Amino acid sequence: MAFTIKKICCIGAGYVGGPTMSVIAQQCPDIQITLVDMNTERIAAWNNPDLDQLPIYEPGLSDIVAEARGRNLFFSTDVEKAIEEADMIFISVNTPTKNYGKGKGMAADLKYIELCARQIADVATSDKIVVEKSTLPVRTAAALKSILHNTGSSVNFHILSNPEFLAEGTAIQDLLNPDRVLIGGENKEAIQALVDIYAGWVDKDRILTTNLWSSELSKLTANAFLAQRVSSINSISELCEKTGADVQEVAKAIGMDTRIGSKFLKASVGFGGSCFQKDILNLVYIARSYNLQEVADYWEQVILMNNHQKQRFADNIIQTLFNTVNGKKIAILGWAFKKDTNDTRESAAIYVADHLLNEQADIHVYDPKVPAEKVFVDLEYLNSRPDAETRRLASVSEDPYEACKDAHAIAILTEWDEFKTYDWARIKRNMKSPSFIFDGRKLLDRAQLEELGFVYYAIGE
Ligand code: UDX
Ligand code: ADP
Repeated sequence: MAFTIKKICCIGAGYVGGPTMSVIAQQCPDIQITLVDMNTERIAAWNNPDLDQLPIYEPGLSDIVAEARGRNLFFSTDVEKAIEEADMIFISVNTPTKNYGKGKGMAADLKYIELCARQIADVATSDKIVVEKSTLPVRTAAALKSILHNTGSSVNFHILSNPEFLAEGTAIQDLLNPDRVLIGGENKEAIQALVDIYAGWVDKDRILTTNLWSSELSKLTANAFLAQRVSSINSISELCEKTGADVQEVAKAIGMDTRIGSKFLKASVGFGGSCFQKDILNLVYIARSYNLQEVADYWEQVILMNNHQKQRFADNIIQTLFNTVNGKKIAILGWAFKKDTNDTRESAAIYVADHLLNEQADIHVYDPKVPAEKVFVDLEYLNSRPDAETRRLASVSEDPYEACKDAHAIAILTEWDEFKTYDWARIKRNMKSPSFIFDGRKLLDRAQLEELGFVYYAIGE
């Protein structure tokens, strides 16, 4: 039996659900899409007539929301109504790493997914296709299936895995023009229904269909490989700093080998974001649970290298500032985990700042898109010291020149384009001497800064 999809509901209006549903709504005007979330503030922000107030910042997103919102794209907190009416339900809720109990610090916390499944099971009165969109450990579909199939009702549920490959900051382009769309499932008609939606704008050759487990594992593996490239080049950056090689030159030289390729070879202060660490931890956890110790240790090293990179960046600041940063003002430019997003999850900046705060440094943060309160919440979440102490030592400026005024050092932790255009001569005039810059993204121009009198350190040089 072929499925006709007229109404879609997406549970979870976050960094994945928001852009994905906006693009589907834009591309498929005949399908009505309702994004639901239990977070009322988030839904209110999605409905805000002022498009600058959308809850997530993503280039190109507000134009698409402006086009589709109120036409075939709706945002609501009425989860049950949206589930009941939908032919297809995307689950796009967050799956953070567990911070308690078995698998603490390693396994994904599936409580939100399970809640969704139970809610769908309770509410549905007609057959549904349920699509897992959140990044999930392999075999989550099995758990979903077992909850949905044991409801005792006569409703049929077909489960599909459709992992998200969008990267924040380029999400809209990634969705409009994906390298591939992956759909895993068991029921041919259900798979076809989702293929037909994407085929509205994606070339059919780029739509892959697989079994459920391959689809789930492909997502974890893709992120593990990408993160591994960053850790690999970051490991070489440390060697470059000791030997006089330049990591950018090395990256260019190896990247021109078409077997290696040039992308994802940018040495940095460490990767962040909600996916890389979580997905690798999932992979490691699954491998350990099957007693595959060598496989687990192999992938875990990617995370250990990333932790080391953040730590050594902070250590280098402390050592260079004559082994103490106590009471010294250090400006941090950039808090988001990469440019063009206001997402700070697992951002390297949080860990570098925390380390400096442990040494009683006086931290001044500036980020073009991250609100001040978010910076404090991120630091407090680590629980490294009493909150009052964090708020005494750290502050957030709305103006980069203010953040850098009277600073002993500046750390560049996100590669925001605007940092390149600052009046660095003005910044230098207002800083303490010697004026140090620690560039964790190799964003700025060494010659220009040295000419102005800065002492400039960059990752991998
Ligand atoms: C990633 C995957 O790219 C995407 O396919 C998946 O759907 C979600 O996870 P995202 O985390 O949004 O996307 O951003 P990404 O561009 O992959 O960057 C992740 C981190 O790696 C960032 O902190 C970034 O600054 C860092 N990075 C990336 C580097 O340090 N060097 C690089 O060369 C590339
Ligand atoms: P992601 O990057 O995976 O999109 P986010 O944290 O940005 O993660 O978004 C996930 C969203 O899912 C949050 O806004 C959260 O409130 C929402 N959510 C989680 N569980 C449920 C649920 N059971 N019902 C509705 N919304 C949920």
